[in-house]
Amino acid sequence: MVTAVAQRLASQRKEIDDTLAAFALSPTQLQEVKAKMRVELERGLKKDSHPTASVKMLPTYVYRTPDGTERGKYLALDLGGTNFRVLVVKIRTGMRNSVRMYNKIYAIPLEIMQGTGEELFDHIVQCISDFLDYMGMKNTRLPLGFTFSFPCNQTDLVCWTKGFKATECEGYDVVDMLREAIKRRNEFDLDIVAIVNDTVGTMMTCAYEDPKCQIGLIAGTGSNVCYMEEMKNIEFVEGDEGQMCVNTEWGGFGANDNIEDIRTRYDREVDGGSLNPGKQRFEKMTSGMYLGEIVRRILIDLTKHGLLFRGRITERLKTKGIFETKFLSQIESDRLALLQVRSILQHLGLDSTCDDSIIVKEVCGAVSRRAAQLCGAGMAAVVDKIRENRGLDNLEITVGVDGTLYKLHPHFSTILKDTVRELAPNCKVDFILSEDGSGKGAALITAVIDKYLYAMRFSDETLRDIMARFRREMENGLGRDTNPTATVKMLPTFVRSIPDGSEKGDFIALDLGGSNFRILRVKVSHEKKQTVQMESQIYETPEDIIHGSGSRLFDHVAECLGDFMEKQKIKDKKLPIGFTFSFPCAHTKLDEAVLLTWTKRFKASGVEGMDVVKLLNKAIKKRGDYDADIMAVVNDTVGTMMTCGFDDQRCEVGIIIGTGTNACYMEELRHIDLVEGDEGRMCINTEWGAFGDDGTLEDIRTEFDREIDRGSPNPGKQLFEKMVSGMYMGELVRLILVKMAKEGLLFEGRITPELLTKGKIETKHVSAIEKSKEGLTKAEEILTRLGVEPSEDDCIAVQHVCAIVSFRSANLIAATLGAILTRLKDNKNTPRLRTTVGIDGSLYKMHPQYARRLHKTVRRLVPESDVRFLLSESGSGKGAAMVTAWASRLADQTRQIHRNFMLSSHSYP
Ligand code: G6P
Ligand code: G6P
Ligand code: BGC
Ligand code: BGC
Repeated sequence: MVTAVAQRLASQRKEIDDTLAAFALSPTQLQEVKAKMRVELERGLKKDSHPTASVKMLPTYVYRTPDGTERGKYLALDLGGTNFRVLVVKIRTGMRNSVRMYNKIYAIPLEIMQGTGEELFDHIVQCISDFLDYMGMKNTRLPLGFTFSFPCNQTDLVCWTKGFKATECEGYDVVDMLREAIKRRNEFDLDIVAIVNDTVGTMMTCAYEDPKCQIGLIAGTGSNVCYMEEMKNIEFVEGDEGQMCVNTEWGGFGANDNIEDIRTRYDREVDGGSLNPGKQRFEKMTSGMYLGEIVRRILIDLTKHGLLFRGRITERLKTKGIFETKFLSQIESDRLALLQVRSILQHLGLDSTCDDSIIVKEVCGAVSRRAAQLCGAGMAAVVDKIRENRGLDNLEITVGVDGTLYKLHPHFSTILKDTVRELAPNCKVDFILSEDGSGKGAALITAVIDKYLYAMRFSDETLRDIMARFRREMENGLGRDTNPTATVKMLPTFVRSIPDGSEKGDFIALDLGGSNFRILRVKVSHEKKQTVQMESQIYETPEDIIHGSGSRLFDHVAECLGDFMEKQKIKDKKLPIGFTFSFPCAHTKLDEAVLLTWTKRFKASGVEGMDVVKLLNKAIKKRGDYDADIMAVVNDTVGTMMTCGFDDQRCEVGIIIGTGTNACYMEELRHIDLVEGDEGRMCINTEWGAFGDDGTLEDIRTEFDREIDRGSPNPGKQLFEKMVSGMYMGELVRLILVKMAKEGLLFEGRITPELLTKGKIETKHVSAIEKSKEGLTKAEEILTRLGVEPSEDDCIAVQHVCAIVSFRSANLIAATLGAILTRLKDNKNTPRLRTTVGIDGSLYKMHPQYARRLHKTVRRLVPESDVRFLLSESGSGKGAAMVTAWASRLADQTRQIHRNFMLSSHSYP
């Protein structure tokens, strides 16, 4: 009897041992796994074998780990592990523990994980929106680093893994999907700067603490490794210099049947019942999502054979997923007594005896031990490869690790480390745990890319400060005593009102100083209602004329005017002329304008300090083929305000955001010390482009702004203009790209002669790159023309650079315009300002996002205002004609008064 029981127990034991024996890997088997993994790593890197390799070896375009100089404030998303997290990460330099993080975990319901891609990304954006509300940051456009823990080819999702299976995502661009969802929500703006795998995020997080960290390992829901590979070994990526982080996606190891000898029938069953059968075979043997499931299937088998749970297969035991990693970890804990194990099993609904508990613990141990050993063998292959890459006998390296399995399981990390030590004896491998998850790493990558850009983003507080500085500058310019030394000149224009609807006549307008030199004929008639008819022609102004002598420039203007009058058949007439001259001029009356200084591209000699009306009249007289009557000279801002004022009487500000930038507005005469009189208003041409020329903006100027200034025709002048306007924006972007490429952050560090050539990136390119639909394609086109072969990540980064530069411009203009608006409000002594701002300029008109950004920021900075932004559709020529109409009417009246006076003097001799 005793023998029979003993025999039965022995045979049961044997059955259990036989079952678990399949999970015990011998040293030789582990060596083989290491060797096969090594082969797959190589195959993944080679051009020919890469497409079919089971270990995908995806390039990440992360060229270096953080060097401690990164800083800024970033948003991070962390999707794909057990938790979905939204974080804000603040990185400061110069201090220990200088990274601060705030995060919130959000649930992703199963039906969304496995619903449509659109639903998934809408949900993500909704969580971001909630987080931004919670942090009070909806108005701050932050750069975003996205940890997306799935295999991605650049930004295209290759395939879902783990518990995700949303439709219409595989093969799609994840950044695009996120961007589209943000647009659908239409509540906030983000710059998606980097998308990284969790292994990469983990490596970066740990490398911030330990520069020797060049490997990232995740042993969690899924399993994966990344490491710094030599560029020359990554055959399908151009370039041989330096290193790049490669996301191995080793979870796919085994897809070519090369580890079938160690897969058990339980592994096959788990695979068959998974969301992605046939895929991620190695992951399914090693990661938290599947270990419990393997255990459950073994338990069912043993129960079937009467070896467990008294042979009863309960519904609970049949339930997929009941065995989570955390239970596995608890059951295997040495600190738990058998009774406690039993109570866990009972908690799981598995009615067990103490013997059952022993067996379950053994099963868990066998499964998790194999997982740790397999990861160890894989890791041994990676470190040996790195050692050989570097031609070293011995390698010291650190692995940054994260993941619930590694963190929670009582033995996993020890077995893993032991295996690495045995299989890679020449490598001293340290493992450090990422305490902060990979979101921090994603933010650090964003910061690496963003290193040169953080100084270009301003908080509303800074913008308000700039607004206050500009308010002071305006006051200085208006004051009699302060004006001589003021940088913002606040020039009186002698324009006293906007059009009142009574203007009429036939005029010529000259429009010189923007990107085009234009001559127009403007006919304003008054039948029933006031109507304006315009005909115009654009004339070339060649560089040699712009930079030649003043007399040549004005001869050219006079010649074009002659040609225009000829074509209009009005050479014999003496039509009143309005001259839009888009440069800073001092007026003592409307038809006298002394050029103070050239700006933008213009540099003709002998004009500064001269009255341009005289110069033009002289040139016309010299020709002698027609006569002209220049009635008014107006700045383009004034022309724009008048053009818009024609349609909207409330218009009292004119701004230009084009080649150059400037603003004018209607000021109370009593505040203009330099002009006699206290009644009514006069338009002031602020010439805000010169803001900062006295050093007021030094704290916000960057090395790129200084470089732009040094290379400009007017160093030290128009410093504000050089930070914001169209003539410089493309060049600013180019300088930043060169710097980033030199740092290896872009284009794999390649710099072409074209990229080094001044002017090769124009503001119109910036506008094209920022288009939301085809922007990335445009970036690729433009960069390809510059001889660089950009990766998709390069294009995203370049788009980000453009966005930062143009956003800074819109922000700065919002601050200076904000100052004008608050001044108008104070002048009117009203609690709420209702006004219209007339705007023109190529940057404002052509850039896809600029106007919206500007309007939004102005409304934020001056909340007590209702501002209508009115685009001047017809340029400033029409406005100049309005001023001319007014001027000629005044001249007529003066003549009339004069004549009357003469007549009356005759009658009374
Ligand atoms: C890190 C990351 C996650 C990642 C996870 C893996 O902390 O922040 O994005 O996926 O580790 O762990 P898990 O066990 O949650 O899959
Ligand atoms: C207006 C005017 C030009 C002015 C220009 C600014 O349309 O008619 O005189 O200088 O806008 O724009 P731009 O982008 O050409 O510098
Ligand atoms: C994914 C990897 C990821 C890993 C760990 C795997 O399923 O394919 O991209 O790094 O899980 O989260
Ligand atoms: C000039 C301004 C002009 C502005 C926009 C600046 O460079 O100094 O007078 O209004 O450009 O064209």
